[in-house]
Amino acid sequence: MHAPHAFDTDLLAELARRHGTPLYVYDAGTIRSQVERLRAAARYPPSSGALGRGFDRIRFAQKANSSHAILRLLVETGVALDAVSAGEIQRALAVGVAPGEITFCADVLDAGALEVLAGAAVTVVAGSRDMLPQLARVQPGAKLWLRVNPGYGAGGHAKVTTGGEHSKHGIWHTELGAAVQQARHLGLEVTGLHIHVGSGFGAEDFQASAHALVEGARCVGPSLSSISAGGGLPVPYRDDEPEFDLAAHARAFAHAREQIELDLRRPIAMEVEPGRFLVAQSGVLLTTVQATKFQGREYYALVDAGFHTLVRPAMYAAFHRIEPLVKRPGATRPTWVAGPLCETGDVLSSDGARPAARPLSPLEVGDLLLVRDVGAYGSSMASRYNSQPLPAEVLIDQGRPRLIRARETFADLMRQERE
Ligand code: LLP
Repeated sequence: MHAPHAFDTDLLAELARRHGTPLYVYDAGTIRSQVERLRAAARYPPSSGALGRGFDRIRFAQKANSSHAILRLLVETGVALDAVSAGEIQRALAVGVAPGEITFCADVLDAGALEVLAGAAVTVVAGSRDMLPQLARVQPGAKLWLRVNPGYGAGGHAKVTTGGEHSKHGIWHTELGAAVQQARHLGLEVTGLHIHVGSGFGAEDFQASAHALVEGARCVGPSLSSISAGGGLPVPYRDDEPEFDLAAHARAFAHAREQIELDLRRPIAMEVEPGRFLVAQSGVLLTTVQATKFQGREYYALVDAGFHTLVRPAMYAAFHRIEPLVKRPGATRPTWVAGPLCETGDVLSSDGARPAARPLSPLEVGDLLLVRDVGAYGSSMASRYNSQPLPAEVLIDQGRPRLIRARETFADLMRQERE
């Protein structure tokens, strides 16, 4: 169940005045406590023996939120970083992470990645066999991981399902053995196996993933020393949604690791790679009501945040709680919360399946609204569509707010453009 948000209403109002809206505001304490919750569950069960060992390492999938200050905060808690592009590797290096501590999980090695990998010994997690000869050229003799696609996927939406035939991700499970041979012929060594079948999965899905790791480990054979359970741990976006069973998840992979250790007769290190779980609930998006109107019988509140600042409702029909910062008295009314973009699909109030009106207390122009749980895949997926400058971001740590990204100016928008 949901804890009330950690923010002070007056402080949020003051931040909106100081920095303007739309504005992302994050709470550092929430991020730290999610790390702690996962760490505690990862130790499950706290007995001795192989099953007393859950995950050895938490690695943050920075695609969820790659803002420098957020990455630094997570690294300070002892969390490792994953990158999926040359830019994300540069971000990890910029917060002071050693190259050997960064993983680069991708299905392609583009020119930018090849250049960065030639100069920095980042560990590649390869999702396509064509990456192997390319990697051998820039990192001769490298140790690498393979990402397996076990032939099935899971997840809250087709677009975030990352396994099966309709996903481009990973090396198809029947080709894993051939990929290991190919790597060997190229002078590379496969030391890790990674799986991630989707975001927002259920209990059966991670049981199946754990089993697929055991199967995959047999294909990789004795060079294997590490496995990753991937990310995908869901968070409750609705008031009535239950919390994810972290202990059951840790237990499934603890069993898998134990089996792999028995099969290969060697100790295996194990990682988990969440994005959303660590940061989603830490962030809110503050937005101002710019206009209200009836379109026939339908009532609209038009705000200054839209799919340029939170694409999840438009892209995945994702549900985010929306509430006025200060509730006006009066009956609630079904309200479409829509953004400023010149596009009908620019609606924040999805019901989880489609754009929809949401019961909200009375609103007036100038009121502030709070869109909840935007810490993951909010700012990291923001765009400049309609030439909207990217918003500012503020991190509140122990009650003290700090600007961690300045709002872009109109000059920033056109900076790289030429006559
Ligand atoms: N590891 C790998 C290899 C991944 O592909 C992903 C997510 C993660 C970890 C982290 O997944 P998480 O723990 O955050 O669920 N933009 C979508 C989510 C796309 C996730 C893609 N891969 C959304 O807003 O829901």
